[in-house]
Amino acid sequence: MLVSTKDMMAKAVAGHYAVGQFNINNLEWTKAIVLTAQECQSPVILGVSEGAGKYMCGFKTVVGMVNGMLDELNITVPVALHLDHGTFEGAKKCINAGFSSVMFDGSHYPIEENIEKTKALVNTCDVLGLSLEAEVGSIGGEEDGVVGMGECADPDECKMIADLGVTMLAAGIGNIHGVYPENWPGLSFETLAAVKEKVGDMPLVLHGGTGIPDDMIAKAISLGVAKINVNTECQLVFQAATRQYVEEGKDLKGKGFDPRKLLAPGYEAIKDKVKEKMELFGSVGKA
Ligand code: 13P
Repeated sequence: MLVSTKDMMAKAVAGHYAVGQFNINNLEWTKAIVLTAQECQSPVILGVSEGAGKYMCGFKTVVGMVNGMLDELNITVPVALHLDHGTFEGAKKCINAGFSSVMFDGSHYPIEENIEKTKALVNTCDVLGLSLEAEVGSIGGEEDGVVGMGECADPDECKMIADLGVTMLAAGIGNIHGVYPENWPGLSFETLAAVKEKVGDMPLVLHGGTGIPDDMIAKAISLGVAKINVNTECQLVFQAATRQYVEEGKDLKGKGFDPRKLLAPGYEAIKDKVKEKMELFGSVGKA
């Protein structure tokens, strides 16, 4: 059964580790992530962008697939199904479709409008027992059509949003979606510490997890980050493993064209990557 992130976030903050959000694109992706979570006895958050939701034939299809999988694969670790960078309308659709968690990304609105819209969703999520992520200060780069300039969050604005009663808060600290450029200056721990000072035990979310060096991940967790989002890195290992399979001509041998064989190396590569991240984030054995 799907759960909200409330309990897993509270435990992560108390235990000084982070829970990974891994974005899903299809059945193989989802199966790889939930089975790895079960093997690692780790809580996990399945992230779905609005674009990926559309690709997978809508949020209801995603809910049906994930619920069926948790049941058929006997998954007992906590799994949340979470909308990533949602619009206000998208968040409402996911709530109606049966998601257990949503993100409303109002970071591109003036702060008053971000507060007003986030507040409306706090009330709805509270009534339904769902978790809600809000954002202040945009994440740089592009993800599924959502483009951000990468501004560092204003700690006072973070407090205003945190005080509304959201479950977790994404604060821009110089993080970027996708692969980091060579000249990336790194995360702004000054901003993160200032945000933490204002919001206390509010679980903080680090987007753009792909390619952040391990020591920065550890420091971010020590400063209150309890959820880390990873998307591109799974896509890259899937692509590399699939390319190798084809380049080695394995699709041409015997029944190597069978989609279950063709997609298997990419599937295994995602499993390895998710395990590596769960170990790095410290969530193994915390289910
Ligand atoms: P990456 O694609 O950089 O890992 O970012 C994922 C993310 O932040 C999802 O919201």
